[in-house]
Amino acid sequence: MILVTAATGNVGRELVPGLLRAGLPVRAGSRHPDPARWPDAEAIPLDLTDQDSVRAAAQGVTAVYLIVPETLEAADVQATLRTLRDAGVARVVLQSGFGVQGEGNLLGDAEAAVRASGLEWTILQPNWFMQNYNQMFRRGVRDRHEFAEPAGTHRTSFIDTRDIAAAAVTVLTGDGHAGRVYPLTGPAALDRHEVAAALSRALGHQVTYRPVDDDGFVDFLVSTGESDEEEARAIASIYPPIRADVTAPVTDDLPRLIGRAGYTIDDFARHYRADWQA
Ligand SMILES: NC(=O)c1ccc[n+]([C@@H]2O[C@H](COP(=O)([O-])OP(=O)(O)OC[C@H]3O[C@@H](n4cnc5c(N)ncnc54)[C@H](OP(=O)(O)O)[C@@H]3O)[C@@H](O)[C@H]2O)c1
Repeated sequence: MILVTAATGNVGRELVPGLLRAGLPVRAGSRHPDPARWPDAEAIPLDLTDQDSVRAAAQGVTAVYLIVPETLEAADVQATLRTLRDAGVARVVLQSGFGVQGEGNLLGDAEAAVRASGLEWTILQPNWFMQNYNQMFRRGVRDRHEFAEPAGTHRTSFIDTRDIAAAAVTVLTGDGHAGRVYPLTGPAALDRHEVAAALSRALGHQVTYRPVDDDGFVDFLVSTGESDEEEARAIASIYPPIRADVTAPVTDDLPRLIGRAGYTIDDFARHYRADWQA
């Protein structure tokens, strides 16, 4: 039995069906489990800040895909790992982030905790998700035909969350991944004007990228109705690595894990076209 945490989230919602297609029994953890959503999986209540729920969800589980929601604290991750180990879980695959280094940020602390957990571990470090464009920028693209970011013309090798889930299936179902760290990127380093061009091609009308400072970014997310100010400021605070070009490299770990090239930004824009038209 494999436990997927944050099963309703960006990667979780792709990973649950991916593991089921691979023939594995899956427990899908959410604070609001809905059995109708996963008729072939076991929907289970799971709140990573509540160790009783972690203990219950871990019974009979051999491996866990651990996603760390941004509202967690490092202590929650450490407690969760202890609970998993005590429940007899053998392996954990942590979803971290690309270019995450050192202490003092949640994902860096989570990586350190996983390495020290006593569990067999693997770390996936995905770059920024293409799916941010049909989520935090969905209304901007749909209603104003534009998005705004404090990213200048810096490049990011965006990755499709469906590919992250495919890599997770490989790691969770195969051998030889213990103690490995996989930095996962999409196939190309793109600046945001190139992202806008892909959205324009898919939608058949011009979509514009507007480079802004942090205040302009907060204004944009708040005025499009995607975020409140506090959340928008928190998102703005994770852009400095982009402006330092930390998110620009392209790695070959993804195609090596999934046996094909990752989706391109044009694939993504075409496949999700309806999201900006609804
Ligand atoms: N977005 C990106 O571009 C990006 C890139 C690299 C890495 N990451 C990392 O990927 C992780 C996921 O980020 P995301 O933006 O994609 O979020 P997400 O997984 O789409 O959404 C958060 C999920 O966390 C669950 N959740 C929230 N609080 C929880 C709690 N206390 N206990 C258990 N589950 C909880 C929610 O599920 P329920 O409401 O159903 O419980 C929801 O499904 C984060 O660690 C983020 O830093 C994100």
